[in-house]
Order: sequence, then structure tokens, then C-alpha cells
Amino acid sequence: MANKNGFTLWLTGLSGAGKSTLALDLKNKLLERGVEIELLDGDEVRTNLSKGLGFSKEDRDTNIRRIGYVSRLLARNGVGVISAAISPYREVRDEVRAETEKDGAAFIEVFVKCPIDVLAQRDVKGLYKKALAGEIKEFTGVSDPYEEPLGPEITVETDRETVDESARKIIAGLERLGLLNESGKLGDLNYNLAAGRR
Ligand code: ADX
Repeated sequence: MANKNGFTLWLTGLSGAGKSTLALDLKNKLLERGVEIELLDGDEVRTNLSKGLGFSKEDRDTNIRRIGYVSRLLARNGVGVISAAISPYREVRDEVRAETEKDGAAFIEVFVKCPIDVLAQRDVKGLYKKALAGEIKEFTGVSDPYEEPLGPEITVETDRETVDESARKIIAGLERLGLLNESGKLGDLNYNLAAGRR
């Protein structure tokens, strides 16, 4: 199949770790460089495509499979996709990776890492306090699992880096993987699946 050189940047990490903020900054930086970008944010997807889904393992898996499906369709048509959802389960992330790669597009897992005690302290949405008080059941990292990526292509540490630094690190990763050419457009896909993981 002709390769149109799209990719999926799959941001995974705990609630409040900064996935959405980072995704937005990345989107703007890549747009400035002429890359066609689409953003799929968990919070937003849950208001339309995944409306009505909750946070059981089954519902989360369904949510992630839906996001993965849309990302894959876009990526295989040459779009750079940024997904920003907790996506706590390794198996489903790997499933999305396999489907994406099967279609000839690159899948870059980005671990948006931040210690949970920092997140609980920051607690921008006030959810950790409620979760710790038992008012929210099945809250990721508190009363529900988060399976860290074992071999993410890129890791950013949002408690130590600014949003700008993390975004630049990811863009450097895309360059390293041969997914952006010099003008910044999507490169001729010399992305090497074997060399892809780091
Ligand atoms: S995922 O697990 O299916 O990937 P997603 O990223 O779409 O999750 O949604 C996570 C957001 O939903 C969180 O940032 C938070 O605002 C909200 N939320 C509400 N309940 C929960 C919960 N039990 N666990 C995690 N996040 C929750």
C-alpha cells in the first residue's frame, strides 16, 4: 500500500499530568511547521464519540479503541495525529499500535510522566481529593490501575520540564525517527519500525 506518511503521537499518562496542555502546544508547533495535525483529546472525545461511557475497564478500553480507530484512519491518510487520553491499559495501547503500524503509519508512544503525589498536591480539577476521600470510584492511580509504558519512544517529565521543553523534546523525537523533513513537513517515511522504539 502506498505510504502517505502519517503518524500517531500517543500521549499516555495520569489525569492532570499535562497531556491536553502538551498536546495543544505540540499541535501549534507542528502546525507552524506546516504539518497537517489533528488532535483527539480524551475529555473531548468523551463528550461526543464516547459519550455515555464511564471508567470501568471495559468502557475505558472501548474509549481507547474508538480513539485508536479514528487516529488510524487519519494517520494512514497522511495526517499527524495527537491523541491525549489516560489510556491506562498497556494491552489496548499495544493493540492500537499494531493496527496503526499494520496500515503503514508510525505509532509513537509518549509517556507523559508525573509522580502521583505531585498530581494529588496540584489537583487542578479537584478530582484527586475526591478520589482519595473515596467519592470517585475507579480513579486512575488512586483506586484503579495505570500501567506505565514499558518501551515508550519518548518520555516527558512534566514535573521537571516546562510545556515548551516537553513539546520540543517530542518534536526532536519525531525528527530523530525521520518523521519530519527539514522544512518540517511530514517526511518521506524512512521511519524504521525496528529502530522506532527506544
Ligand atoms: S481513559 O482512561 O478512558 O483513557 P480519558 O483520558 O478519556 O480516560 O478521561 C480521563 C478524564 O476523565 C480525567 O482527566 C478526568 O478529568 C476524568 N475522570 C472522571 N472520572 C475519572 C476516573 N474514575 N478515572 C480517571 N479519570 C476520570
